[in-house]
Amino acid sequence: MRVISTIKEMKSAVREVRGQGKSVGFVPTMGYLHNGHLTLMQEAKSKTDFVVVSIFVNPLQFGVGEDYEDYPRDLSRDSSLAESAGVDIIFAPTVREMYPKGYATFVEVEKLTGVLCGKSRPGHFKGVTTVVTKLFNIVEPDIAFFGQKDAQQSIVLKKMVEDLNMNLKIEIVPIVREKDGLAMSSRNSYLNSEERRAALALSQSLEMVRELIASGERNNLVLVDEIRKFISREPLARIDYVEILSVPDLEKTEFLQGSNLIALAVFIGNTRLIDNMVLEG
Ligand code: PAJ
Repeated sequence: MRVISTIKEMKSAVREVRGQGKSVGFVPTMGYLHNGHLTLMQEAKSKTDFVVVSIFVNPLQFGVGEDYEDYPRDLSRDSSLAESAGVDIIFAPTVREMYPKGYATFVEVEKLTGVLCGKSRPGHFKGVTTVVTKLFNIVEPDIAFFGQKDAQQSIVLKKMVEDLNMNLKIEIVPIVREKDGLAMSSRNSYLNSEERRAALALSQSLEMVRELIASGERNNLVLVDEIRKFISREPLARIDYVEILSVPDLEKTEFLQGSNLIALAVFIGNTRLIDNMVLEG
């Protein structure tokens, strides 16, 4: 496995692979890899001939006062995990390499980014779509793999690829969870043991609402209210949002019909966690 840090070297490595007629799979990450990331890599490995993983904590997608500085970083640990997952290249550029002095171009998907995390974190998705466009141009993958864990991000990136006629496919991989249900996240490393226990409120509230739906409840106001009540019983939890929206338009609906996304963002202490569940129509 090679670790590459310059755009020039990355482009030439991938051109060589393409010259051999191989398909390229790509998994963009911000590093501090866990089993969720590794599952995306395994999926890439099974569907393409050559797998590139990027590790780049993208300053553009963090707001003022967010955790850009504190975001966990460990390239040597990440390298050995990626290598054991059969990854061929890690692309780990510096901030200066990606955004040289005078950088001025941004990509923005409208409407879909005005709700959920886009509303709570203004500018976040502009940072995501800009960096992912750059990474797609550098790596030129046939298929890029993203996680359902970041449901809105997946929907926004699919829309971007469609609207801008980008030459690749996007595949979405289901949420990978810890044994007790907590969705895996690099940010889980911020939680102390009390908070780690409290964080179960997210996945458990989704399980609770799944049962409520199975028993016939279809009114979204009622479902959202029940989730809010459930999470509010946990003293360490503070709700950012609980929403039920249509998929893939992310519009508010009164009743469950068609495909729906139930999405949560909850602060556990100072750590903001997200989780979601999609109900197919
Ligand atoms: P990051 O949070 O590192 O996540 C990288 C990829 O792993 C994303 O597609 C995310 O949805 C997926 N992922 C994370 N946790 C997962 C889990 N528990 N189960 C399944 N997939 C999971 O998302 C980003 O980085 C960045 O926004 C990025 C796309 C790299 C742009 O900077």
